[in-house]
This record gives sequence, C-alpha cells and structure tokens, in this order.
Amino acid sequence: MVDLVGQHAKIQSELDEAIGRVMATGAFVKGPEVAAFAEELAEFTGSKHVIPCGNGTDALQIALMALGIGPGDEVITTGFTFISTVEVVALMGAKPVLVDVHPDTFTIDPEQVRAAITPRTKAIVPVHLFGQMADMDALMDISETSGVPIIEDNAQAIGAAWCGEAHRHGQSGTFGLMGTTSFFPSKNLGCMGDGGAIVTSDDAVAARCKQIANHGMVKQYHHDVVGINSRLDGLQAAILRVKLKHLRGYLAARQAAAARYDALLDTCPGVHIPVREHRSSHVFHQYTLKIEGGRRDALLAHLAEQGIPSGIYYPVPGHAQQAFSQFQYNPDAYPVSAELAQTVLSLPMHTELTEEQQEFISDVIIKFIN
Ligand SMILES: Cc1ncc(COP(=O)(O)O)c(C=O)c1O
Repeated sequence: MVDLVGQHAKIQSELDEAIGRVMATGAFVKGPEVAAFAEELAEFTGSKHVIPCGNGTDALQIALMALGIGPGDEVITTGFTFISTVEVVALMGAKPVLVDVHPDTFTIDPEQVRAAITPRTKAIVPVHLFGQMADMDALMDISETSGVPIIEDNAQAIGAAWCGEAHRHGQSGTFGLMGTTSFFPSKNLGCMGDGGAIVTSDDAVAARCKQIANHGMVKQYHHDVVGINSRLDGLQAAILRVKLKHLRGYLAARQAAAARYDALLDTCPGVHIPVREHRSSHVFHQYTLKIEGGRRDALLAHLAEQGIPSGIYYPVPGHAQQAFSQFQYNPDAYPVSAELAQTVLSLPMHTELTEEQQEFISDVIIKFIN
C-alpha cells in the first residue's frame, strides 16, 4: 500500500546527514531538533504553536486533557475513523457521542453534530478522513454559536487546505481550537517510528498541552497537574525536518496518482471514484473506491491473488465496536457508516506509484468488474 523504502532512497543523503547530526549531539529526547521541527511545522501550517508528542493518539488525548474532559462530559465525533478518535474519549471517562458521516465525502455530517449538542458537550472532533477536510464552514458556525470547541483530527490530511466562506480559509488542523496529527510512517508526513503533534494558535492552550505532555510539569520536578509522558524523539524530529521540506512535492505526487486512478476507473460500472469536496483540497492519504453490488470482498480477494494489496478502512464503524458496547449505540442510527464499511476499498496510494503500476491495478479491477 505504501513504498517508504523507495521514498527514502531518493533522500538518503539528507536523512543520513540528519540522523548523523542527532547522533553527534546525543540529544535523543527533546533537544534542538524537536524545537526546530516544531517551529518549522508551525510555519508550514500557519499556526502559532506546535507541540510535538509521542503519536497521534496521544495528541488527541492531550487535547482532551487540555480541555479538562472527563466523566459526565460528552464529545461529538464520528465512528467512521481509526479507533483512536473514539478511544481517547472513552479513555478519559467521557462519552463519545457518535454521529453519521456524509455518503460522498465520508466526513462528519454537520447537521447531525448540531442536533447532538447538549449542555454536557465539551468538544466536537471532526476527522479529515483520507486526506479531505470535513465541512469546516458548517462546523465552525456550530462551534461559534454553541461555544463548543473543535479539535480537528488531522492525522490523515496534513497540508490540505479549506477555501470556504470569505473568512474561512486555511490549512487543515488550524480552524479549531486545536488540531492533532500523526507522523506514523505511512502518513503523508511520516517519521521512522511513532510521532504526533498538537497544533494551536491559543497561547494558554499551547502551554497547557506542553505541560500535560511533560508529566504535568513546567518547573522541573514540580508537577502542577496530572500529565503523561509523550514526546517526539530527536531522531524522529530530524527525519521529519527533512521530509517536511519535501511534503508539498509528496502531496502533489499523491494528487497526480489520484488523478490517474480517476481517469482509469471513472467509467468502470459499479465502481465509484472518490468524490471531491470542492472547498477542500484532497491530499489523498487514501484513494478509496466504493464498490457496488456486494462485490467488494470478492474484488479484494481477486486483487490479492494478483499480488495487488488493497485495504478496508474501516470494516467496523465505532458504534459497532465491542470495546464501546458500554455506550449502547443504536445500530440503526449510522446507515451511511454501516454501508461504507461494506463497500469501501482503498488502493495502493503513495508517492512512488508509477503509471504502469496504476494501469495494471486498474486493468485487473476493470476485468474483474466486467
Ligand atoms: C484518523 C486518525 N486519528 C488518529 C490516529 C492515531 O495516530 P497514531 O497511530 O500516531 O497514534 C490515526 C492513525 O492511524 C488516524 O488515522
């Protein structure tokens, strides 16, 4: 599904230099590379602060902790996402209030968010799924009228931009009070292990996140709040500094690959290519088809027989996960998520895909469907 070896080979000397730099200083935890990466990512996103941390799940947890979310509180989000988005809410002892997604963009349905707000709602967590942003015009309106802050789960869409109503434009992760992201190796900006960050332009929130990520400490060995240990390594930061310089090119390569798949598969009956939300750029963390006629699983098996990897993101929506049975979600309340779980199929998508590979993959799909 990804070709990190091929991607890294092209920047080998830059990576060697960065890794050597960290080894020469011995600054493996915190240190100048982490600080420099935070500054460079803040500049890239246009937000005031970046707080690096251990991974994208921690970033979400730290964001919830910064808002003091706990038992008795509700957080509105979507179950059509990677488990982390919902898991951290449950972990904080709060209730994940799940709403359904839009059938075309697979992102959270703002009207259902509006209807789900109660006096207990402490945050709204939209997910910019597969590289495309949720409807930030509507969600920011809801946040502003209700006073409920937004935490954008931006693990899959770093570098995407929204161009909505006159005053609503900017990068993914910078609209809400906080945005969180993941640098898991296969992400659009990935390191060589685990990594994550919280992005915010609010000084007080930034200070709180930084403190929480560092054992609740500002002055050494003085712990004012209960925190966690979540940090980005110096080596990962140095690697991310190299890859951040190439990120625009990586996103353009993904978009070019997506356009090629579009052209190859657009007319294939029963196969729906990704729908573009016209107000968001799509940075294609995943290239996800919808396969009609109950043939998705057979197609996946056929692709595997031909040596072509593909993936189902996500086969079980949050409302149906055993881990969340305590919340007793109504199984009939999420028809779109339930349908997507049966129909979506993601194809190989990465910066190194060649036209020949895509033609081969598309040819196998078209022959199977016909
Ligand atoms: C939407 C979403 N949120 C959160 C995460 C969690 O990130 P991490 O794996 O770095 O903890 C991921 C990563 O897969 C993700 O896709």
